[in-house]
This record gives sequence, structure tokens and C-alpha cells, in this order.
Amino acid sequence: MKRNNSLVMICFGICFIIIIFSCEKETIVPINLEDKTFSFSEDIQSILDSKCSGCHTDLKDENSYDFLSSKDWITTEATKAEDSKLYEKINTSHVDGRLTSVEKRSLELWMEQGAENN
Ligand code: HEC
Repeated sequence: MKRNNSLVMICFGICFIIIIFSCEKETIVPINLEDKTFSFSEDIQSILDSKCSGCHTDLKDENSYDFLSSKDWITTEATKAEDSKLYEKINTSHVDGRLTSVEKRSLELWMEQGAENN
């Protein structure tokens, strides 16, 4: 019985060492958000989908850009981005706890870059 116990301990020891050494270090490539060129389909749609479309169902699918522009939520005049409804609304308590700071800044930058359907 004693012998069995020490065998079990050795097995645990080996497993523990294997687990510790199998952890790989993840390399995170830092992205400078401010320098990024934003794409509506690649960067923005997924944010609207996951964070807004629960209530704003028009923001769910591929027609969401048409919705944004037809409702005048956005403007393609980059210099007026900050005056748009979407820009204003994401800077109110409306988005508290919904958008992360990166998601919010991504939306802003996309609008500051001309809110294109790109
Ligand atoms: C829990 C439901 C809910 C969620 C989630 C939600 N909204 Fe809203 N939103 C509303 C309601 C209700 C209104 C209308 C009342 C108001 O203006 O607050 C509204 C209004 C707005 C307006 C103003 C529309 C207008 O014509 O004036 C904008 C812009 C907006 N939301 C953007 C967003 C964005 C962007 C998100 C995602 C980050 C979002 N909302 C998430 C419920 C929601």
C-alpha cells in the first residue's frame, strides 16, 4: 500500500511538471488604435452586432450601414463626425457598461475617418 502511494505521488509530480512546461507564452502584438485604418465590415459591424443589435435590430445584418446613413446617425463628412448622432450617443451613459473603451474609440475613429461603407 505504501509503495502504491508513492507511485501515485510520482505520477502526480510528473503530470504537474508536464502541465507547467506545456504553457506557452502568448505573443500579443500591440496595435496602435489611433494609427489604424478602420473598415466597417471588419471592425465596426461586429461591435454593432454584439453590443447594439439586441435593441436596435436594424444594426444586426449587412443592411446596417444603410440604416445608419438613412437615419442620419452618421455623416461621411469627416470633419463633422463629432456632431453625428452615433458619435454623440456613444459618448453618453447610453453605452455605459456596453462598449469597452477600445470598441468606443474604434467607432469614433471609423467616423473620424469618414464613416465609409468599407
Ligand atoms: C437595451 C436596449 C438598447 C441597447 C443595447 C442599445 N440601445 Fe441605443 N437606443 C435604445 C433606445 C430605447 C433608444 C431611444 C431612446 C434614447 O434615445 O435613448 C436608443 C437610441 C439610440 C440612438 C439615438 C437614435 C436617435 O434617432 O436619436 C443611438 C445613436 C443609439 N441608440 C445608438 C446605440 C448604439 C451605438 C448601441 C450599441 C453600443 C446602442 N444604441 C445600444 C436602446 C438601446
